[in-house]
Formats: sequence, structure tokens, C-alpha cells
Amino acid sequence: MKTIIEPFKIKSVEPIKFTTRDERERILKEAYYNVFLIPAEEVLIDLLTDSGTSAMSADQWAGIMKGDESYAGARSFYRFEKKVRELTGLKHIIPTHQGRAAERILFSIVGGKGKYVPNNSHFDTTRANVEFSGAEAVDLPTEEGKRPEVIADFKGNMDVPSLEAFIKKVGRENIPLCMITVTNNSGGGQPVSMKNIRETKSVCTKYGIPFFLDACRFAENAYFIKKREPGYANISVKQIVQEMFSYADGATMSAKKDALVNMGGFLAINDDKLATSARNLLIVTEGFPTYGGLAGRDLEAIAQGLDEILDEHYLQYRIRSVEYLGEKLTKAGVAILQPPGGHAIYLDAKRILPHIPPGEYPGQSLVAELYRVGGIRAVEIGSVMFGKYESDGQLIPARMELVRLAIPRRVYTQSHIDYVIEVVVETFEKRQALKGYEIVEEAPMLRHFTAKFSPMN
Ligand code: F0G
Repeated sequence: MKTIIEPFKIKSVEPIKFTTRDERERILKEAYYNVFLIPAEEVLIDLLTDSGTSAMSADQWAGIMKGDESYAGARSFYRFEKKVRELTGLKHIIPTHQGRAAERILFSIVGGKGKYVPNNSHFDTTRANVEFSGAEAVDLPTEEGKRPEVIADFKGNMDVPSLEAFIKKVGRENIPLCMITVTNNSGGGQPVSMKNIRETKSVCTKYGIPFFLDACRFAENAYFIKKREPGYANISVKQIVQEMFSYADGATMSAKKDALVNMGGFLAINDDKLATSARNLLIVTEGFPTYGGLAGRDLEAIAQGLDEILDEHYLQYRIRSVEYLGEKLTKAGVAILQPPGGHAIYLDAKRILPHIPPGEYPGQSLVAELYRVGGIRAVEIGSVMFGKYESDGQLIPARMELVRLAIPRRVYTQSHIDYVIEVVVETFEKRQALKGYEIVEEAPMLRHFTAKFSPMN
């Protein structure tokens, strides 16, 4: 087998800026050791997120020129609607400016106090929108999904027996819908099997609960199904995607991931009444139903991106390039959440820095050091992001202390990734010298975006 290469050539480039270690030390200090506060220009390789950071293709840029900017009934909307319907089979296709806007509209209609929304694992904005409505967001991952060192094919799965037990416990009338997130981002970018989607749907049908997909990374999930699930090897990714959605009564989507665009999303639903309420709310807060907070050109780029994402050469390269990073780090002894996910590698800071207790934020220490050593920006997904406090001020740490290296789509080449590997390994070799951090200032909610840190002595 030959090297799996980037299935594209580069037509337009964006220079990246090199800094010295001394400069980075100063920049880190000025940003209070919070990489969200570092200007992106001072970052060499930006692995903060795979969301909205994709490189668009020539055809997508051509679509940008062709965008129809009519307020109502734009041609671009119909192209977008047709494409989304072709993949999802869903009846009502409602554009939104990004994923969380779809979530907000959906949960402000179906959520509310006393309601529960189960999911394999909610992403933070999904959880926030469920909880903002007064409802409770419930994560039901499988046991293997909770263990970073376990290697298994579908660690993103929903724990179906727990779901059924949960429905019986709280009552089906208190569950407006059940969700599965593909791939499971909070659980390490891990895929969900078709079997698991089918079984979840069947429990939902038994109790009359609508089943929704949080579909951000649907194509990456479908590719894993093709590679790992018996019976799917000879079926096209497009057909796998169509089967995944065939079980869904609705879906929310951030097009900033698997639609290969910088902005956009949608809410897709079968229920006519729910769709009417959603469109009414959309008009108040996003825009008219044929643009929903987007420009016509954005809708063109999404429609084109949804075609390109199904290219199996692209998906092979995509999944392999993330796996390559994971493989090399594992070989060097760096503990990562296993196996490599679809869009990111998650370093296991708890195992890499056992000398730094959760209260001194080992993930944050690793994030700061990756920037210091190599100008790489990663994100802490641990007690900074998910830590809570007891009433006496004691920290309740997160279950895992992870550092996510999210790979933007079609942006970095293998030599960029080789450089990332060198920086991570160099940091790992000096791990004993790393120190913890304390938080000196923080916001009451979503503190990781703005918190200020100071290194411990
Ligand atoms: N659902 C999942 C699974 C996500 O990963 C995200 C965003 C959203 C919903 C919300 O979409 O940003 O368009 O409003 N995830 C990004 C990330 C931010 O870095 O993982 P959005």
C-alpha cells in the first residue's frame, strides 16, 4: 500500500508567522496563559478547533460568486435544501447561522423545566441550550466510552440499556427527544455504529420519543462505519449517510465541520408542527426561512461542501491523517485517548502529568507548554472547561483531563503534522519539569474562554 496523500493540490496559500521562544513566552504571559486570549496571528499551527477552519475548494469559492442574495426564495437556498434533503431524507430544512442556533431554536420549543434530553454525550453548546431552556441534559455513553485507554471500534455509542432504564425512570412524557451525536466529540471524536443508531431508534420508537442526530461530523462517522462495521465495506459512504439519517426524525448540524465551510448550519425535521414553530422563531432571531442568518453565498458553499465531504479519497486521507498523528504519538509513549478519533487527537494529561493534581490543571499546563515549545495552539478539555465548585469552594474536577489537538479540514500537510509530533514529543520528554497553574480570574459560566492563569511555583 502506498502513502495516502492529500487528495488535492494547493491553489491559494496563507502564510503563517514564526515566532521565537522568547516572544512566545512574552505572548503567553500577556495572555495570562490562556491560549484563547492569544491573537491567532501569533500561532504557528492552530489546532484549537476543526470548526469553521476548513479550507474551501475552488468550486466552493466559485459558489460564493454564484450565491443568490435574494431575501426570499433565493436559488442558493433551493440548491442547499435539495442537497440536505438528498442526504437526510428529512422534510423541513431550516438554515441557521451555525449549529448552536439550530440547538437554541429546537430546545426553546421542546425543552423546559422538568424535561430531560438524553444523548450519547452532549457537546457543551448543546448541553448549554438544553439547560438554558430549563431542561436537563443527560449523557449516556457506554462504559468503554468512558475509558481513554480502551481500544474499541465504536466508543461513541449510546448505552442503550441505560437509555431504556432512564426513560422508564423519568417517564417518556418528560423526554421531548433523544439525541445521538456523531461523531461523539466530547467522548473523543469516537464513532457510533449503525447498529447502535438502529437500537437507539428502536427504543425511542417503543416509547414514542422522537430521535435526533447531532450530525456535525456525519461523514467521518459514516466512513468509520464503512471501515469497521460488518456488512458495510462495499456500501458507499453516501448510502451509509442516508441510512444513518433514515432513522432520524430530525437533526441539528453545524456546517462548520463536515460541510467544509467557515459558517453555517441547519435544523432538519419531519414534524410539520414543530417545523412551523421553528420557522416562526427563526424569523424573529435568525432571518427569513430561506436564508436563516446566512448569505446566499454561504448556502451555495454548504451545498457544494456536502458533496465534497462524501468523496471517499478525502475521507480516507482525513481519517488516516488523524490516525497517523495518533500512531506516532503512541509509539513515542505519549498517552492519548484511544483509538484516534475522526477529527482530533486527545492527549491524556492525567497520565502524562501524574505529578500535577487536577486542581492545578494538568491539561492547561500541557496546552501552555505546547505553545511555548512550538507555537501550537491546542485546547484543554478537562477541569478548566468542565470543573465545578462545591458550595465550600472546593473544585469538583472533570472526569478526564484531556488536551485536544483538533485538525482543521484540508488545511495542514503531513509535514505540519510531523512538526506537531516533534513538538508534542519534545514536551513529553520534559514533562517532569512542567508545573501546574492556578486560576486568578474567571467568569461564572464557560470560564475556559476568558479565565486568567498564573503558573505555580
Ligand atoms: N455539536 C457538536 C458535536 C459540536 O462539536 C459543535 C461545535 C456544535 C454542536 C455547535 O456548533 O459551533 O456551529 O455552534 N463544536 C466546535 C468544537 C466549536 O470546537 O468542537 P457551532
